[in-house]
Amino acid sequence: MSEWWKDAVIYQIYPRSYNDSNGDGWGDLNGIIEKLDYLKVLGVDALWISPVYDSPQDDNGYDIRDYRKIYDRFGSNDDMERLIHEAHQRGIKIIMDLVANHTSDEHYWFQESRKSKANPYSDYYIWKDPKPDGSPPNNWGSHFGGSAWEYAPERDQYYLHFYTRKQPDLNWENETVRQEIYDLMQFWVDKGVDGWRMDVIAEISKYTDFPDYPPQPGKAFIVGSMHQNGPRLHEFIQEMNRKVLAPNESMTVGEAPGSNAELAKLFTDPERHELNMIFTFEHVELDRVPNSPNRKWALRPFQFTELKRVLSEWQDTLRGCGWNALYFENHDRPRIISRWGNDTNYRKECAKAFATVLHGMQGTPYVYQGEEIGMVNSHYDLDEYDDVEIKNAYKAYVLKNKSISEAAFKKAVWQVGRDNARTPMQWNAGHEAGFTSGEAWLKVNPRYPEINVEEALSDPNSIFYYYKKLIELRHKEAILSEGTYQLFLADDPHLFVYERTYGDEKWLIVANFSEETVETDELKPFLYDRWDRVISNYATVDPHQPLRPYEAFIIRKTI
Ligand code: NOJ
Repeated sequence: MSEWWKDAVIYQIYPRSYNDSNGDGWGDLNGIIEKLDYLKVLGVDALWISPVYDSPQDDNGYDIRDYRKIYDRFGSNDDMERLIHEAHQRGIKIIMDLVANHTSDEHYWFQESRKSKANPYSDYYIWKDPKPDGSPPNNWGSHFGGSAWEYAPERDQYYLHFYTRKQPDLNWENETVRQEIYDLMQFWVDKGVDGWRMDVIAEISKYTDFPDYPPQPGKAFIVGSMHQNGPRLHEFIQEMNRKVLAPNESMTVGEAPGSNAELAKLFTDPERHELNMIFTFEHVELDRVPNSPNRKWALRPFQFTELKRVLSEWQDTLRGCGWNALYFENHDRPRIISRWGNDTNYRKECAKAFATVLHGMQGTPYVYQGEEIGMVNSHYDLDEYDDVEIKNAYKAYVLKNKSISEAAFKKAVWQVGRDNARTPMQWNAGHEAGFTSGEAWLKVNPRYPEINVEEALSDPNSIFYYYKKLIELRHKEAILSEGTYQLFLADDPHLFVYERTYGDEKWLIVANFSEETVETDELKPFLYDRWDRVISNYATVDPHQPLRPYEAFIIRKTI
């Protein structure tokens, strides 16, 4: 079975924000087709396309009404087939987003299911009786705030929804449901889809006795360990593998909230026949206050040493028995340079430094649209954001619980709100950053005249060309996919230093994550007598000199 993804780089497209071909303010499939040549220049191997299926768009397509139909604002099924064909013509693979933990409440299955307990679709979802006082069956919370249960008078029962009330959770205990999912996967695979990113796949198996979480102060509803890694999770994934993944040789990356490196082995050890790799949340939630009633909106200072520790632990633990998905950004995460770096006077250096340390590791790197040009967070008024997570959290925590002030909430949104990554792609300095000839569905980041693709393509030292070079290295240097990993200077608060070794070959990866020039005596023991430069974000490299702000390089040992 081909393991093409082991020396590949995957690019994520959030279609609504990528490129609008018809002026309605929404990105669409034809818009993506128009940009395939751009992506070919960048050199990526595959595109992960966030959901484009028919959907009422309550959660921007992660609420699917019809899995076999493309949402009309994105285009048609023919457009999707054309996208697959055109991408394949250019040697680029297509990964679709499989949202199988839940559907939209407008999906036919749910419309039927809610009608009555006797309906043939009755058990497609998770229905429970109210408590004797009429309240929800347990204290489980929705990830987006409030209870995870919604009452449906038709059945006099509650249904479970881990996300919005318009996203009822499917009942994976039901074999027919599982087969429905495998069938729809086959439908798209037959059209040429090469793989799957699996939305919150770690949540599909539920603790079917539905126990309450132990009460916690200040919280009416709790999201905790029972929301993921349920008892039959791996059995379900193995079944899916047998029935639809292995026969089609589909590449897979599962989204796995609640995972750590040990759990990752269960998903990705090839002997277990589950998934190729998973996205963990561990490294991207390091600045979250644990167990806060305000959930992701309660932030604490970020420790750089913790980031090194977590990433290194994943490198070490999965070596030889699993595979890493390497990422900093996606459509749910803010722009990394704005969050943990510098997006002003050292924006370009900083973006390249983050890219260097991530793309130097073992695993499959993911680039999120706009990351390759150093796009930054947006600082909007709350009513300018569109995201249902921001809106629901505002209602739940600011208005209802009053557990966070509006000012503190807004500050947190500026740091970690999902719309930071969803602002339209900045193609040029013209109208709406070249994203649409109409009016963009979400305000374009005002820094587009400075940060855009046209500018990046015209500057040989741009972040874009740096990514292009990293992607070329991934393709041709086996040390990146195969080499061992060793972290140095684990306690240094600014330097990220590690070595990769493959046979006789040795590469040293060095980055200074600070705005200061840093003395590097401590680096000396790890330097090579003779070396040459693989890549660097300043024109020259002298590892014996103090490191300049956000300086990053890779050097190769020579004899
Ligand atoms: C994870 C997706 O990435 C996110 O955007 C979505 O809101 C939830 N899963 C629910 O599908």
